[in-house]
Amino acid sequence: MSENEENLIFNPSQQVIDGAIVKEYDQLYKYSIENREAFWAEQAEMLGWYKKWDKVLDSSNPPFYKWFVGAKTNIIHNAIDRHQTTANRNKLAFLWEGEDGLVRTFSYHALNREVSQFASVLKSMGVVKGDIVTIYMPQIPELVFAMLACAKIGAAHSVVYGGFSSEALLERITDAKSRVVITADGGFRRGKATQLKDIVNKALEMCSVVEVVITVRRTGEDVYMENDRDYWYHDLKALPIASTKCETEVMNSEDMLFLLYTSGSTGKPKGLVHTHGGYSVYTSTTHRMVFDIKPEDRFWCAADPGWITGHSYIVYGPLINGSTIFLYEGAPNHPYPDRWWKMIDKYGITILYTSPTAIRGLMRYGESWVNRHDISGLRLLGSVGEPISPEAWKWYHRVVGKGKAPIMDTWWQTETGGFMITPIPITPLKPGSATKPFFGNELGVVDDEGNDVKTGEQGNLVIKAPWPGMTCCINEDKERYYDTYWKRFEKQGWYSAGDAARIDKDGYYWIIGRTDDVIKVSGYRLGTAEVESALATHHLVAEAAVIAVPHELKGNAIHAFVVLRHGTEQSRVLEAELKEHVGKVMGPIAKPEAVVFVDLLPKTRSGKIMRRVLKARALGLDEGDLSTLEE
Ligand code: WT7
Repeated sequence: MSENEENLIFNPSQQVIDGAIVKEYDQLYKYSIENREAFWAEQAEMLGWYKKWDKVLDSSNPPFYKWFVGAKTNIIHNAIDRHQTTANRNKLAFLWEGEDGLVRTFSYHALNREVSQFASVLKSMGVVKGDIVTIYMPQIPELVFAMLACAKIGAAHSVVYGGFSSEALLERITDAKSRVVITADGGFRRGKATQLKDIVNKALEMCSVVEVVITVRRTGEDVYMENDRDYWYHDLKALPIASTKCETEVMNSEDMLFLLYTSGSTGKPKGLVHTHGGYSVYTSTTHRMVFDIKPEDRFWCAADPGWITGHSYIVYGPLINGSTIFLYEGAPNHPYPDRWWKMIDKYGITILYTSPTAIRGLMRYGESWVNRHDISGLRLLGSVGEPISPEAWKWYHRVVGKGKAPIMDTWWQTETGGFMITPIPITPLKPGSATKPFFGNELGVVDDEGNDVKTGEQGNLVIKAPWPGMTCCINEDKERYYDTYWKRFEKQGWYSAGDAARIDKDGYYWIIGRTDDVIKVSGYRLGTAEVESALATHHLVAEAAVIAVPHELKGNAIHAFVVLRHGTEQSRVLEAELKEHVGKVMGPIAKPEAVVFVDLLPKTRSGKIMRRVLKARALGLDEGDLSTLEE
C-alpha cells in the first residue's frame, strides 16, 4: 500500500456519530484491555443465564482457556427463548427469499415453533445431548432451523457447505461420527436444481456410521430414499412426535455448540469446536457494537450459513440481539445482475455484510444495475473474507453506500468465532484497512522471533490475549490445536493467525494475506495440501504442487504444477480432466484455474516442495535464495 492510500481517510458523518451506540473508541479500548475480565463480564450481563459464572476466565492451562466457567446456559435461551416474553415475540426474526421468488417469513414466535418441532423430531430419532449431527443443505430456512434445533437439545451441529463433494462430505461425517444427517433434495442455483440428496446418497454408500437421514423437500425433484434410513422432514413434521413444545437443554458454558471444518496446512480438514457460553457473548457483542444494531434494522449477511460468517452473523449473533435477518437462496446475478439490489429495496435492508469477491463480481456489471433500485435505506456496509482493494472499497462505498454508509472491514477467522480487527461506525476509515482491534483484544505484528516489527513493515499477525469467541480446540485433537496455532510463539503464549500484516503510523492494521499453506479463492479457504492430495488421487498423476496466483475476480486462483506418471502423454484433454477431477473430489470451488505439466518439482534437499519458487516463476519474479534447492 502506498503512503498515499494510508493518508486517504473517510470520516464518519455527524449523523452516524450521533446515532452510534458506541460513541468513543480509545478510552473504551484502553479500559477493555486493562480490565479484560470485567469488560467481558459486563457484556455477558446483557444476556440471560440459567446460572451465572463462578469465574469469567480460567487461564490456568494455556492455551486451553475456559470462559464463563461454572455458568449454565444454552445459546438458544438467548437466541430464541428470551424473545418469547418480550416485544420481540411478534417481531420478524427471519425473512427468506428463494431464487425462484418464493418468500417465507417467521416471527420470533414462529421461529420458536419451527425450531421446537425440528428439535422434537431429532429427539424422536434418538439424537441426544453430546451427539454431533451433520447438516448438508442449501440456503433455505430449514438449514437455520436444523442448526438451532441441534443446539436446543444439546447436540452439536457440523454444517458442511453445500458446495462440497460427496468425498469431502464423507470425510467430515466420518470424523464427526454423525449418526444422523440432515439434508434436502436440493436447492436452486442459477435456475437449476442442485442434487444434494444424490451427493449424500453417494457419500453414504461408503459409510457405516450414519443410521438416519432426514431430507427436507425444496425442489420437488425425484430422489432415491432408502428404506429404514431415509425420512422426509415434512412426513415427520406431520406426526404427533413433532411437538411445538420442546425444553431447551441446560448446558455448561464450555459445552460444544458446533463443529466446523476448515482447511489447514495439512491434508485433513480440522474440526474446530465452538462452545455455548463464550461464543454467545462474543458474537452478540461484536454484532451489536460493530453493526450498531437498532431494533428496526434489517440485517443481511450474504454469506452461506455453512461457513463461520453465517454461523456467527446470520444465525447466532443477530438472533441473540433480536434482529431481523434476511437470507437469500441463490446466485447474486440470477436472473439479472440486479437481484441483490432489488431485494435490498424490496425488503428495506439497512445493513449489508458481504465479501470482496462478491463486490468485485457485482462491480463488473456496472453501476446502472444498482441505480435501478432505491437502496438508500442501507446505513452500514460490511466486508469479510480477504483484503478488499481500495478500488473495490471505493466502489462499494460510493455506489452501494451512496457515499454515506461506512464500511466495516472485519478481519477474523473460523477459529476466532467473531470479529477481531474491525472498525466501529465512528472510526475514521482508510480503504483497504481493517483499522483497529475490537475491544478486549490485543494483537500485534511481529518478526519470526516475536519482536514487534517497525511501523509500516510486514510481519506475522498474532493475537496476544484470550477472547471469549476463541475456538476451544480441534475436535478430539488437542495436540494438533496446540501445534497449529500456539507452538510457533509458545514462548510468548501468542496465537499465530497465519496472516501477514502491517501496522501504519496511525496504528491501523493492513492485512496482506496468508503466510501458510492456505489459499483464499473467492474468500473460500482451501489448503494447498488438500488440493495436491486430490490431484494425486488421479491415476495418471505422480506428484503435484499448487500455488495461489492473483486473480481479478476471485482474489486468488489456483495454479497446479503436475508431474505425470512415467510414459503419460501431456494433453489439453488431460489438463481439463485433472481440473474436473479436483472439482469432483473436493467440490467446484477447488478447481484449478490452470494445470501446468512439469518434469520435476523444485524441492529442498529434505524433500519439501518449494512453492515459493513455483510462484516466482509463475509471476515472472525473482526466485530468491535457491541455496536449499536440490540439484
Ligand atoms: C482468513 C480466515 C472470518 C470469516 C471468513 C473467513 C482472511 C478474513 C479478512 C479481512 C483481510 C481477511 C484472512 C484470515 N480474511 N477477513 N477483513 N481482510 N483478510 O474465515 O475461512 O476462516 O478464513 O480469511 O486470511 O486468516 P476463514
